Amino acid sequence: MSLTTVDLRPRVGSELKTDLKTLLSGSICAQIRDLLVQRGVLIARGIEMSDEQQRAFTRTLGNLRLGTVKKEGEEGLMKVTFDKKENPEYAEFFPGTFFWHMDGTYEEIPPFATVLTPRVLAPSGGQTEFANNYAAYEDLPESEKAFLDKLQVVHTMQASIMPAIPEATIEQIALWHSYPARTHPLVWRHKSGRKSLVLSTSASHIVGMHPAESHALLQRLMSWATQPQYVYRHTWQMNDMLIWDNTGTMHRVLPYDVNCGRRLHRFTLTGEEAVVGA
Ligand SMILES: [Fe+2]
Repeated sequence: MSLTTVDLRPRVGSELKTDLKTLLSGSICAQIRDLLVQRGVLIARGIEMSDEQQRAFTRTLGNLRLGTVKKEGEEGLMKVTFDKKENPEYAEFFPGTFFWHMDGTYEEIPPFATVLTPRVLAPSGGQTEFANNYAAYEDLPESEKAFLDKLQVVHTMQASIMPAIPEATIEQIALWHSYPARTHPLVWRHKSGRKSLVLSTSASHIVGMHPAESHALLQRLMSWATQPQYVYRHTWQMNDMLIWDNTGTMHRVLPYDVNCGRRLHRFTLTGEEAVVGA
């Protein structure tokens, strides 16, 4: 079976019409990588994958990520769930996933892409949204692009989680502070030459700017980049398979009951290029 695609939104998201055998063969991996960067997020439906098959498919697209700044699941599997029995290492950080973010902004080279499949659905809510940070940058006025191209932004764990856990304990805050901060350019000039905004709730402040002006600018850009024309909202069904380009999009999950057992399995590809300024 070959690959055909259907655009889901004009500026972001495409559905892949293919089957498991074709995905696992690696015969369309180059096409998928190209589409991923062009469309931000790709979805295939009716693909029933075991963990082993999902891992094998992810490996056709690049280098599987086995460890990270602190830790990741065994053999690359991360279980996305609030159930601490299923995910004792990460569950306490998942409240941050309700806010727009990129993964791995604390690292020099953020992960390239992630493959996600649902294992237990939420009875209501729990849709995942993706915002295209390439399109959002490209639509800005030229004069503003020239200004933003020069800015550097500090990303911190506490910035990303504080909004999600407003009444955090001193111990929680101390844990967040133990993660390294990272400064990235606000605008990423990718190897392809295309540029995108490096926006995320983890963006704490802009280097050298008054905190009030920095806060206002980051808030305004976040509002700009998450306008409906840049966003695809995915409503999960069993046997969905979703891939997103973490370097050119933000993502978040819509609120759901965190005790409902919702669980998705993810495998992530290591990053391939550092965030280089424009
Ligand atoms: Fe994430």
